[in-house]
Amino acid sequence: MTNEMVIVLDFGGQYNQLIARRVRECSVYCEVHPYTMTLDEIKAKKPKGIILTGGPNSVYGDGALTYDAALFSLGVPVLGICYGSQLMAHVLGGKVAPAEVSEYGKTEIEVTANDSMLFDGVPKKSITWMSHTDYIAAIPGGFRVTARTENCPVAAMEDKEKKLYATQFHPEVMHTEHGAMMIKNFVREICGCAGDWQMESFIETTVKNLREKIKDGKALCALSGGVDSSVAAVLLSKAIGKNLTCVFVDHGLLRKNEGDEVAEVFGEGGPYDLNFVRVDASARFYERLVSITDPEQKRKIIGEEFIRVFEAEAKKIGKVDFLVQGTIYPDVIESGLGKSAVIKSHHNVGGLPDCVDFREIVEPLRLLFKDEVREAGRRLGIPEKLVARQPFPGPGLGIRIIGEVTPEKVKIVQEADAIYREEIARAGADKGLGQYFAALTNMQSVGVMGDGRTYDYAIALRAVETSDFMTAESARLPWDVLQRAASRIVNEVQGVNRVLYDCTSKPPATIEFE
Ligand code: XMP
Repeated sequence: MTNEMVIVLDFGGQYNQLIARRVRECSVYCEVHPYTMTLDEIKAKKPKGIILTGGPNSVYGDGALTYDAALFSLGVPVLGICYGSQLMAHVLGGKVAPAEVSEYGKTEIEVTANDSMLFDGVPKKSITWMSHTDYIAAIPGGFRVTARTENCPVAAMEDKEKKLYATQFHPEVMHTEHGAMMIKNFVREICGCAGDWQMESFIETTVKNLREKIKDGKALCALSGGVDSSVAAVLLSKAIGKNLTCVFVDHGLLRKNEGDEVAEVFGEGGPYDLNFVRVDASARFYERLVSITDPEQKRKIIGEEFIRVFEAEAKKIGKVDFLVQGTIYPDVIESGLGKSAVIKSHHNVGGLPDCVDFREIVEPLRLLFKDEVREAGRRLGIPEKLVARQPFPGPGLGIRIIGEVTPEKVKIVQEADAIYREEIARAGADKGLGQYFAALTNMQSVGVMGDGRTYDYAIALRAVETSDFMTAESARLPWDVLQRAASRIVNEVQGVNRVLYDCTSKPPATIEFE
């Protein structure tokens, strides 16, 4: 197999990992690096192609992120996207200026050059995704315009000889009808990549890198039984065997029977060769959550307490050098570790508190999207039941209970959620659903049961369709499934007299109900 690689240089755009993912979909290995990566570092990687991402700045603004013009004379094909296209124009002597009409959203382009390799197989007119306030007013010498829109004279440009390509629009987002084709044209045709990279290569490389990094060190893995931490744990166990200890913390905020199910798969007698430790820490968590109502505070407390529990376990085990976590890419950006805005602090993402005596955190799945993690899991031979499992947040039911968390409320939401999942499974209604669960609203209202008045909680049911968990649509569940679940919940779960269905998409809501 060839060792071909495409480098994505990150200028702070929102869709940077999406670009990497699209490249991987063309079976070409791809790494995202900050724009501060030096020319020598780039050369050392011997990339077959370089992609410059979008970004929030203006190329002519003070302190604008830029790159040495020498990047464009390496002889390596470059594709500049949005900010990256303007940067290419600016650095090579073209002109970038504020646009009279900024374009945002779906925009039709017209391909004006019928022999551009980038647009091979792309119709003359198609929809693309634009998001810009500046535009390329004059192209650099040696370039030609290859596409335009009604308001943007340079929707794409290229210098075929030097293999420099640029698009003002974002080919990586789904809304660009033929974007995947354009990226494929770039990496496979223009860069000449053979496209023989597979998920196996990711596994092989990751296991090798983990082995080199950890050597004889001891690692502790935060195993939750979810897809992410399970895949991370199996990768680690492949790399370092029994030097890995997996600690499964039952924080009392798990779904019904979940603790036992996880122990069955990973514990003694299961298929894996792991050190598995199950800790029942629910009392500690409940205690710390008394009278806490703010969701961010709950997340922080649960996250912190998690670390403390691990710390205690680590001390029992002896010297621990690495803490392994199943953080995946959407967790990383939504926690504001990139340059995008902070939406919510994800559980255990973003390093460790000062007092923790692990040397380093290891996150082997940090750059993968959920479906890529599942794919890795399958290739690792993890049972389908586990691999296909819907995601469950680290802070668990703690963030599916609005207001104060109490053991009684946990029990209510556990029971309601189990019924909801049972009914969906019974009806076979789970196909196409990305995530579905019950949450406990903090709202009590009047109901009537038997001959008596009740004043009980409302349960919210949620089901979403999503491929990347960054956006989601509320699912149109069959009405009879909802009704059956609702009727069973009010009848079987004490303390609930009303069931609501959440039909909001993300954005503006999030997937979780917190
Ligand atoms: P939101 O609610 O942000 O959720 O739309 C997106 C996806 O992330 C999951 N999620 C988490 N996963 N730790 C996790 O491991 C967390 O703190 C966390 N918060 C949300 C959520 O379930 C959904 O799949």
